[in-house]
Amino acid sequence: MLVSLVQNNPAFGRKMDNARNLVRLMEQAAATETGRPELYVLPELCFSGYQFLSRDEAYALAEPRQGGEGISVLAEAAKKLDAAIVFGFPERSGGKLYNSSMLLTPEGSRAVYRKTHLFAKEKTIFDPGDSGFFVKEFRGLKIGLAVCFDWFFPEAFGTLARLGADLIAHSANLVMPYCQQAVYARAVENRVYVLTANRCGSEDRGAELLTYTGKSVAVSPKGEYLVSLPESEEAAVCLAVDPALARDKALNPYNDIIADRRPELYR
Ligand code: ACM
Repeated sequence: MLVSLVQNNPAFGRKMDNARNLVRLMEQAAATETGRPELYVLPELCFSGYQFLSRDEAYALAEPRQGGEGISVLAEAAKKLDAAIVFGFPERSGGKLYNSSMLLTPEGSRAVYRKTHLFAKEKTIFDPGDSGFFVKEFRGLKIGLAVCFDWFFPEAFGTLARLGADLIAHSANLVMPYCQQAVYARAVENRVYVLTANRCGSEDRGAELLTYTGKSVAVSPKGEYLVSLPESEEAAVCLAVDPALARDKALNPYNDIIADRRPELYR
């Protein structure tokens, strides 16, 4: 299957403009000679921006999973591109507010993952995710979702792999420098594809200057960097993934990385 990794630089709060720009980037990827991707992975909070100054501000920009300004634009694009899209968005649900990621299919199904491990001041804005980890199959590819700081917890990606994920769609707004190297280990230790779609650019809402690290990466189950995007430019690229490669957990005739686990000794 052909998939696409998308990196953007949203302008804070301009949901419609940012969503349309994401569609433009996805259309660019679809127009390349490699063929049409069937899955696009977009960054965390990709049409709202990241640096909310208060929970009320985030709540005002948030959308229910049924849709709002940003989600509607992406839902339309999924149909037009005949592809699934994974994207991060601020989700409101009743009085709760989550840093969520959605797997949206062209047929209209919407699976929502709510970020488990909130980072820094996100703890003052969002409720901790309560969806838990899950895997969904789309056109033969088993997709698991993770959001940004989840990478810091090997159990998160390991759980997705043990649930059967072929590919972990990891939407991010990274401000620390380690993740693009660390997800290499997440891919190798679980023999899965990891696509980290990070944002680029900086945001200063008067509280602090946040500079996002860009350099979105795709890593194969065999530990190859398949794609590495630039640090500070928007980009969308295509790459091929093979679910069979991720389902082969045998390292050699003696070692199977799932069967060899010793959970009784782990704490
Ligand atoms: C992060 O979790 N957005 C760093």
